[in-house]
Amino acid sequence: MKTNKTFTMIKPDAMRNGNAGNIIAHIEKAGFKLIAMKLTKLSVDSAKDFYKIHENRPFFNDLVNYITSGPIIAAILEKDNAVDDFRKLIGNTDPQKAEKGTIRQMYAQSIDANAIHGSDSNENAKIEGDFHFSLQE
Ligand code: RTP
Ligand code: MG
Repeated sequence: MKTNKTFTMIKPDAMRNGNAGNIIAHIEKAGFKLIAMKLTKLSVDSAKDFYKIHENRPFFNDLVNYITSGPIIAAILEKDNAVDDFRKLIGNTDPQKAEKGTIRQMYAQSIDANAIHGSDSNENAKIEGDFHFSLQE
């Protein structure tokens, strides 16, 4: 099923490096509309909750430490085929493998500090958007 919404977070490394504005401009130029957006910082408990699908992975503690290391921007985005198109726009999890012109190829430091999050399914887009925002439909 296609979706028209996805969820993203601009991660702490991109915020620290002053890349948030460029990343948001890139997202808008690619045709995504901003439906909701906020600058926030995840607590350790909320990060563990947000990433609970990864709780048995070896990188879980590093992931929680990293995502709580500074502010983030959380946003809901709208576009036809939003989930898949946004995953293409951000590129591979590992910036060394990300295609030229993708957000991670341009702005990410490493597989841990990889600049941006994008939901990986319609179901997770809804769960993750609801985690950060309560929108009146
Ligand atoms: P994201 O959820 O942040 O959009 O990233 P993703 O789908 O491309 O990757 P995912 O498998 O969901 O992993 C979530 C985040 O965990 C870190 N990670 N580290 N060291 C590793 O092997 C490893 N694998 C994943 C990454 O920061 C990834 O974004
Ligand atoms: Mg993921």
